[in-house]
Amino acid sequence: MDTKAYLRRYSDGDRINHWALVILFFCAALSGLSMFHPSLFFLSTLFGGGPWTRILHPFAGVLVFLSFGGMYVRLAKDNAWSADDSGWLAKSSTFFAGRTHEMPPAGRYNAGQKLLFWWITGCVLVLLVTGLVFWRPYFVGYFSIGLVRTATLVHSLTAVALVLGVIAHIYAAIWVKGTLRAMTRGLVSETWAKRHHPRWYVQMTREKH
Ligand code: HEM
Repeated sequence: MDTKAYLRRYSDGDRINHWALVILFFCAALSGLSMFHPSLFFLSTLFGGGPWTRILHPFAGVLVFLSFGGMYVRLAKDNAWSADDSGWLAKSSTFFAGRTHEMPPAGRYNAGQKLLFWWITGCVLVLLVTGLVFWRPYFVGYFSIGLVRTATLVHSLTAVALVLGVIAHIYAAIWVKGTLRAMTRGLVSETWAKRHHPRWYVQMTREKH
Protein backbone atom coordinates (compact mmCIF):
# COMPACT_ATOMS: atom_id res chain seq x y z
CA MET A 1 0.00 0.00 0.00
CA ASP A 2 1.19 3.51 -0.81
CA THR A 3 1.51 5.29 2.53
CA LYS A 4 3.32 8.40 1.24
CA ALA A 5 1.86 11.85 1.90
CA TYR A 6 1.14 13.95 -1.20
CA LEU A 7 0.66 17.63 -1.97
CA ARG A 8 -1.47 19.02 -4.79
CA ARG A 9 0.71 20.76 -7.40
CA TYR A 10 -1.73 21.12 -10.33
CA SER A 11 -5.52 21.28 -10.57
CA ASP A 12 -7.51 19.26 -13.16
CA GLY A 13 -7.82 22.47 -15.24
CA ASP A 14 -4.04 23.05 -15.15
CA ARG A 15 -3.38 19.51 -16.38
CA ILE A 16 -6.01 19.59 -19.15
CA ASN A 17 -4.50 22.91 -20.29
CA HIS A 18 -0.95 21.48 -20.23
CA TRP A 19 -1.74 18.27 -22.15
CA ALA A 20 -3.87 20.13 -24.73
CA LEU A 21 -0.85 22.42 -25.20
CA VAL A 22 1.44 19.37 -25.63
CA ILE A 23 -0.81 17.82 -28.34
CA LEU A 24 -1.13 21.14 -30.19
CA PHE A 25 2.60 21.81 -29.85
CA PHE A 26 3.44 18.45 -31.46
CA CYS A 27 0.97 19.15 -34.32
CA ALA A 28 2.52 22.59 -34.94
CA ALA A 29 6.12 21.38 -34.48
CA LEU A 30 5.85 18.28 -36.71
CA SER A 31 3.94 20.12 -39.46
CA GLY A 32 6.45 22.99 -39.24
CA LEU A 33 9.44 20.63 -39.39
CA SER A 34 8.02 18.97 -42.51
CA MET A 35 8.30 22.39 -44.23
CA PHE A 36 11.67 23.21 -42.61
CA HIS A 37 13.85 20.89 -44.70
CA PRO A 38 13.12 18.49 -47.61
CA SER A 39 14.53 15.56 -45.59
CA LEU A 40 11.67 16.07 -43.10
CA PHE A 41 8.93 16.38 -45.71
CA PHE A 42 7.75 12.81 -44.96
CA LEU A 43 6.22 14.19 -41.73
CA SER A 44 3.56 15.92 -43.85
CA THR A 45 1.89 12.51 -44.36
CA LEU A 46 0.70 12.85 -40.73
CA PHE A 47 -1.39 15.85 -41.75
CA GLY A 48 -2.82 14.68 -45.08
CA GLY A 49 0.07 15.64 -47.41
CA GLY A 50 1.88 18.86 -48.37
CA PRO A 51 -1.05 21.22 -49.15
CA TRP A 52 -3.01 20.26 -46.02
CA THR A 53 0.11 20.59 -43.84
CA ARG A 54 0.66 24.08 -45.23
CA ILE A 55 -3.00 25.03 -44.56
CA LEU A 56 -3.21 23.51 -41.07
CA HIS A 57 0.17 24.57 -39.62
CA PRO A 58 -0.71 28.27 -38.99
CA PHE A 59 -4.01 27.31 -37.31
CA ALA A 60 -2.15 24.83 -35.06
CA GLY A 61 0.30 27.64 -34.27
CA VAL A 62 -2.47 30.02 -33.20
CA LEU A 63 -3.95 27.27 -31.00
CA VAL A 64 -0.51 26.74 -29.38
CA PHE A 65 -0.41 30.48 -28.66
CA LEU A 66 -3.90 30.40 -27.10
CA SER A 67 -3.30 27.29 -25.00
CA PHE A 68 0.10 28.59 -23.85
CA GLY A 69 -1.76 31.80 -22.96
CA GLY A 70 -3.87 29.67 -20.59
CA MET A 71 -0.72 28.33 -18.89
CA TYR A 72 0.70 31.86 -18.76
CA VAL A 73 -2.34 33.21 -16.93
CA ARG A 74 -2.22 30.31 -14.45
CA LEU A 75 1.53 30.30 -13.78
CA ALA A 76 3.25 33.60 -14.70
CA LYS A 77 3.00 34.84 -11.09
CA ASP A 78 4.86 31.77 -9.77
CA ASN A 79 7.57 32.26 -12.40
CA ALA A 80 8.30 35.90 -11.47
CA TRP A 81 12.06 36.42 -11.04
CA SER A 82 13.40 37.23 -7.55
CA ALA A 83 16.82 37.99 -6.02
CA ASP A 84 16.93 34.38 -4.66
CA ASP A 85 16.73 33.10 -8.24
CA SER A 86 19.91 34.94 -9.23
CA GLY A 87 21.66 33.22 -6.29
CA TRP A 88 20.31 29.83 -7.45
CA LEU A 89 21.50 30.47 -10.99
CA ALA A 90 24.99 31.41 -9.81
CA LYS A 91 25.22 27.93 -8.19
CA SER A 92 23.64 26.03 -11.10
CA SER A 93 26.85 24.00 -11.73
CA THR A 94 26.33 22.43 -8.26
CA PHE A 95 22.76 21.51 -9.33
CA PHE A 96 23.95 19.85 -12.55
CA ALA A 97 26.64 18.00 -10.57
CA GLY A 98 23.72 16.36 -8.72
CA ARG A 99 24.37 18.05 -5.32
CA THR A 100 20.83 19.45 -5.21
CA HIS A 101 20.85 19.54 -1.37
CA GLU A 102 23.56 22.26 -1.54
CA MET A 103 21.34 24.61 -3.60
CA PRO A 104 19.65 27.72 -2.17
CA PRO A 105 16.05 26.68 -1.33
CA ALA A 106 13.68 27.06 -4.31
CA GLY A 107 10.03 28.15 -4.19
CA ARG A 108 7.32 26.59 -6.43
CA TYR A 109 9.75 26.74 -9.39
CA ASN A 110 13.55 26.92 -9.40
CA ALA A 111 15.45 29.52 -11.44
CA GLY A 112 16.09 27.03 -14.26
CA GLN A 113 12.36 26.30 -14.63
CA LYS A 114 11.60 30.02 -14.54
CA LEU A 115 14.14 30.78 -17.26
CA LEU A 116 12.63 28.05 -19.40
CA PHE A 117 9.12 29.42 -18.80
CA TRP A 118 10.17 32.90 -20.04
CA TRP A 119 12.16 31.36 -22.91
CA ILE A 120 9.02 29.50 -24.07
CA THR A 121 6.91 32.66 -23.58
CA GLY A 122 9.29 34.74 -25.73
CA CYS A 123 9.48 32.07 -28.46
CA VAL A 124 5.70 31.63 -28.64
CA LEU A 125 5.20 35.41 -28.97
CA VAL A 126 7.86 35.81 -31.68
CA LEU A 127 6.47 32.79 -33.56
CA LEU A 128 2.97 34.28 -33.52
CA VAL A 129 4.01 37.75 -34.70
CA THR A 130 6.42 36.54 -37.42
CA GLY A 131 4.01 33.79 -38.52
CA LEU A 132 1.18 36.30 -39.04
CA VAL A 133 3.46 38.37 -41.33
CA PHE A 134 3.82 35.58 -43.90
CA TRP A 135 0.47 33.78 -43.42
CA ARG A 136 -0.74 33.33 -46.99
CA PRO A 137 -3.20 34.37 -48.24
CA TYR A 138 -4.59 36.30 -45.27
CA PHE A 139 -1.95 38.79 -44.07
CA VAL A 140 1.10 38.52 -46.30
CA GLY A 141 -0.20 41.22 -48.71
CA TYR A 142 0.07 43.89 -46.01
CA PHE A 143 3.86 43.60 -45.70
CA SER A 144 6.89 44.32 -47.90
CA ILE A 145 8.81 41.40 -49.43
CA GLY A 146 11.87 42.29 -47.32
CA LEU A 147 9.84 42.06 -44.12
CA VAL A 148 8.21 38.80 -45.24
CA ARG A 149 11.64 37.26 -45.87
CA THR A 150 13.04 38.48 -42.53
CA ALA A 151 9.94 37.19 -40.69
CA THR A 152 10.33 33.76 -42.35
CA LEU A 153 13.96 33.50 -41.23
CA VAL A 154 13.26 34.70 -37.67
CA HIS A 155 10.26 32.32 -37.47
CA SER A 156 12.43 29.31 -38.41
CA LEU A 157 15.25 30.21 -35.99
CA THR A 158 12.78 30.83 -33.16
CA ALA A 159 11.09 27.48 -33.85
CA VAL A 160 14.48 25.77 -33.40
CA ALA A 161 14.99 27.68 -30.12
CA LEU A 162 11.54 26.58 -28.88
CA VAL A 163 12.06 22.93 -29.83
CA LEU A 164 15.42 22.93 -27.96
CA GLY A 165 13.69 24.50 -24.92
CA VAL A 166 10.94 21.86 -25.00
CA ILE A 167 13.52 19.04 -25.29
CA ALA A 168 15.23 20.42 -22.13
CA HIS A 169 11.82 20.64 -20.43
CA ILE A 170 10.85 17.04 -21.23
CA TYR A 171 14.30 15.79 -20.20
CA ALA A 172 14.05 17.59 -16.84
CA ALA A 173 10.49 16.34 -16.26
CA ILE A 174 11.64 12.73 -16.72
CA TRP A 175 15.08 13.13 -15.10
CA VAL A 176 13.82 14.54 -11.77
CA LYS A 177 12.14 11.46 -10.31
CA GLY A 178 8.59 12.06 -9.08
CA THR A 179 7.98 15.15 -11.28
CA LEU A 180 5.86 13.48 -13.99
CA ARG A 181 3.22 12.58 -11.39
CA ALA A 182 2.67 16.34 -10.89
CA MET A 183 1.27 16.58 -14.45
CA THR A 184 -0.42 13.15 -14.60
CA ARG A 185 -2.15 12.93 -11.21
CA GLY A 186 -1.65 16.54 -10.09
CA LEU A 187 0.22 15.31 -6.98
CA VAL A 188 3.81 15.24 -5.72
CA SER A 189 5.13 13.46 -2.64
CA GLU A 190 6.04 15.59 0.37
CA THR A 191 9.57 14.15 0.15
CA TRP A 192 9.84 15.42 -3.47
CA ALA A 193 8.57 18.87 -2.45
CA LYS A 194 10.94 19.10 0.56
CA ARG A 195 13.91 18.06 -1.58
CA HIS A 196 13.33 20.12 -4.75
CA HIS A 197 11.12 23.05 -3.70
CA PRO A 198 11.59 23.53 0.09
CA ARG A 199 10.09 27.04 0.22
CA TRP A 200 6.99 25.85 -1.67
CA TYR A 201 6.76 22.87 0.71
CA VAL A 202 6.75 25.18 3.75
CA GLN A 203 4.10 27.39 2.13
CA MET A 204 1.87 24.41 1.23
CA THR A 205 2.11 22.69 4.59
CA ARG A 206 1.55 25.96 6.45
CA GLU A 207 -1.71 26.34 4.49
CA LYS A 208 -2.58 22.65 5.03
CA HIS A 209 -2.18 22.51 8.83
C1 HEM B 1 5.86 15.02 -23.55
C2 HEM B 1 5.99 16.30 -23.32
C3 HEM B 1 5.92 16.96 -21.97
C4 HEM B 1 6.02 16.44 -20.70
C5 HEM B 1 6.27 14.99 -20.31
C6 HEM B 1 5.85 17.53 -19.77
C7 HEM B 1 5.87 17.42 -18.39
C8 HEM B 1 5.68 18.45 -17.50
C9 HEM B 1 5.72 18.31 -16.06
C10 HEM B 1 5.95 17.02 -15.30
C11 HEM B 1 5.51 19.53 -15.53
C12 HEM B 1 5.46 19.89 -14.03
C13 HEM B 1 6.82 20.45 -13.57
C14 HEM B 1 6.79 20.94 -12.14
O1 HEM B 1 5.71 21.22 -11.61
O2 HEM B 1 7.86 21.10 -11.52
C15 HEM B 1 5.33 20.46 -16.61
C16 HEM B 1 5.09 21.80 -16.49
C17 HEM B 1 4.98 22.69 -17.54
N1 HEM B 1 5.04 22.38 -18.88
FE1 HEM B 1 5.35 20.54 -19.70
N2 HEM B 1 5.67 18.69 -20.48
C18 HEM B 1 5.70 18.38 -21.83
C19 HEM B 1 5.59 19.27 -22.88
C20 HEM B 1 5.40 20.63 -22.75
C21 HEM B 1 5.33 21.56 -23.86
C22 HEM B 1 5.45 21.15 -25.33
C23 HEM B 1 5.16 22.79 -23.32
C24 HEM B 1 5.05 24.14 -24.00
C25 HEM B 1 5.30 24.39 -25.26
C26 HEM B 1 5.11 22.65 -21.87
C27 HEM B 1 4.92 23.68 -20.98
C28 HEM B 1 4.91 23.55 -19.60
C29 HEM B 1 4.77 24.66 -18.67
C30 HEM B 1 4.61 26.13 -19.06
C31 HEM B 1 4.81 24.11 -17.39
C32 HEM B 1 4.74 24.86 -16.06
C33 HEM B 1 6.17 25.06 -15.56
C34 HEM B 1 6.43 26.48 -15.18
O3 HEM B 1 5.49 27.27 -15.07
O4 HEM B 1 7.64 26.87 -14.98
N3 HEM B 1 5.26 21.33 -21.56
N4 HEM B 1 5.45 19.78 -17.80
